[in-house]
Amino acid sequence: MKIAIIGAMREEIDPLLSKMDSVIETQYANNIYYEAIYNGKKLVIAYSKIGKVFSALTATILIEKFGCQMVLFSGVAGAISSELKIGDLIIADGLCQHDLDITAFGHPYGYVPEGEVCIPTDTKLREIAKKVASNKGIALKEGIIATGDQFVACSDKKSWVAETFKASALEMEGASVAVVCNALGIPFFILRAISDTANDEAGMDFDTFLESSAKISADFILDMVDEIYA
Ligand code: ADE
Repeated sequence: MKIAIIGAMREEIDPLLSKMDSVIETQYANNIYYEAIYNGKKLVIAYSKIGKVFSALTATILIEKFGCQMVLFSGVAGAISSELKIGDLIIADGLCQHDLDITAFGHPYGYVPEGEVCIPTDTKLREIAKKVASNKGIALKEGIIATGDQFVACSDKKSWVAETFKASALEMEGASVAVVCNALGIPFFILRAISDTANDEAGMDFDTFLESSAKISADFILDMVDEIYA
């Protein structure tokens, strides 16, 4: 079993790479893929760059070129749910694209013909996450994560996404990774630690908490890797 771990930004994968014993770097398609052994297990780690297109490209390459049979995403998100505070973890039970809009043709937001508004994540991986959280004694929220090519720093937009998609958090890559994995039949899992609350202060909070929240997510993902192989 070869497991892909994707982050969007360098800060999201650095805490993973720092725990690897040996790393082989491969440059491909304007990016770097890090093949590593973690506790004797095969991983391929990459940061995609921000947004849906780059993350879809990276997920596809990890599956098709590197032969990964499972995709885990680790990174940060903006909170929608008031239950989520900075540093809290959320796992996606489903992912939707909040910026996908052909409502002019009578379709719901987030839908295109032959697609789905919300793509569910792998149930077994979610169960493993809950077991890891329980072992670590930490709270783990589960909910819909809404993805779009926008950094949301506006309460009105946040409320709209909350109402339209019943989403608990916002980010910029999960749903595109979901589309790729769903199409290719690869189990996938999206984990995010909260860096901001997607309001007026989101930009400043993001800069302040990116590193600390990314590390919380990365540490949790590596604990999951141990359980996945157990
Ligand atoms: N990732 C982290 N915070 C975010 C936000 N407020 N909007 C979109 N993506 C994010």
